Amino acid sequence: MSQHEVRVAVLGAGTVGSQVIRLLGERAEDFAQRSGARLTLVGIGDRKVDAPRPDYIDRSLLTTDLTALATSADLVVELIGGIEPARTLVLAALNSGASVVTANKALLATHGPELFEAAAAADTDLYYEAAVAGAVPIVYALRESLAGDTVTRVLGIVNGTTNFILDEMATKGVGFDEALATAQQLGYAEADPTADVDGLDAAAKAALLASLAFHTRVSIADVSVEGVRAITAADIAQAAESGYALKLLAICDRLDDGVSVRVRPTLLPLSHPLASVHGVFNAVVVEAEAAGRLMFYGRGAGGSAAASAVLSDVVAAASHKAHGGHAPRESAYAALRVLGPEEVRTALSVRLKVADEVGVLAGVAGVFAGNGISIESVRQSPANGDSTITIVSHVARLGDLMRTVEELRASASVHEILSVTAVETH
Ligand code: HSE
Repeated sequence: MSQHEVRVAVLGAGTVGSQVIRLLGERAEDFAQRSGARLTLVGIGDRKVDAPRPDYIDRSLLTTDLTALATSADLVVELIGGIEPARTLVLAALNSGASVVTANKALLATHGPELFEAAAAADTDLYYEAAVAGAVPIVYALRESLAGDTVTRVLGIVNGTTNFILDEMATKGVGFDEALATAQQLGYAEADPTADVDGLDAAAKAALLASLAFHTRVSIADVSVEGVRAITAADIAQAAESGYALKLLAICDRLDDGVSVRVRPTLLPLSHPLASVHGVFNAVVVEAEAAGRLMFYGRGAGGSAAASAVLSDVVAAASHKAHGGHAPRESAYAALRVLGPEEVRTALSVRLKVADEVGVLAGVAGVFAGNGISIESVRQSPANGDSTITIVSHVARLGDLMRTVEELRASASVHEILSVTAVETH
């Protein structure tokens, strides 16, 4: 066994923390061999010291004094989530010279620069593989495996809860509320599902992915977000009839005039590799100039899946403590412009109920043209004197697209806007 000892503190002994603690014990010899350091668990910080715990948790290590613990270890694993007190604890740990491993996407997507600067100033590590897509090693892939390439696009299903809900709606024909209730019964969705269903969890992950992919600071506030609450069973059935799956996608694009980052329910052709990602699974497609298209797939949530990612960071950080060196620093040198909410790019599918009369289609097309939007396809199906038209636009600025929709809504020949949905056509 190695002579080096790295003293590890775990803050938060919930679903992920418990699995991290279990594996730290069970795999101690492997981790010592891989990192060159003996990992000694010196404390477990949790508000609930009296809660029932599995046998592998040594209750004598439990403490409610998280600050003392965070500033007295060599390596701090932060799994409490949320902004405060996590931010203060992580900063205190870094400032004390400890390396930090965190799964906290909201914290990094809001205060990342401050934390990365603190890690660099203290010459220590800040790792966060588990913050995006759980066990899927996408942070490492973007930061290290693709460091020799130019990433142009990252497109992913990064929230398992909403993917489960949309899948449940698609396969069982149930509405959003029923699908959410099932997700909650199965333990996928929280009692307060806001972060998942309103797209905020995916937006935080999109910000982290875009920052890594484009070497540019992107915060959660820069992400154009729409969640899944308003999706109906009819929307999903209609999508399926047209040969699409409806998925909550995070899409990060490097464009000529800046970086576009958005999260929204998006129609995907059934032939697209992400269309066959079901249930709580996550998947991320990366497009890079030299590598071409890569796809990463796996479990995005769950105690042991997230613990796998946390422990990979723990082994790397412990190795640096034992042998020197440090994690790659934040890379924001490209400092590309981040496009605002009006400027982000997408294609839209707009379904309209219109009067089946001479000139109506020309009028609708004219509204698109008047806003500088090119049309990719038009499909019309007549019904009882009315007609339903589905228009798919080419990729355009979201602001111009939404103005087009508002003008259509105000047009006398448009009886109803049935749906407005982002679409990926290839
Ligand atoms: N709640 C997330 C999901 C997992 O459903 O994918 C943690 O980010």
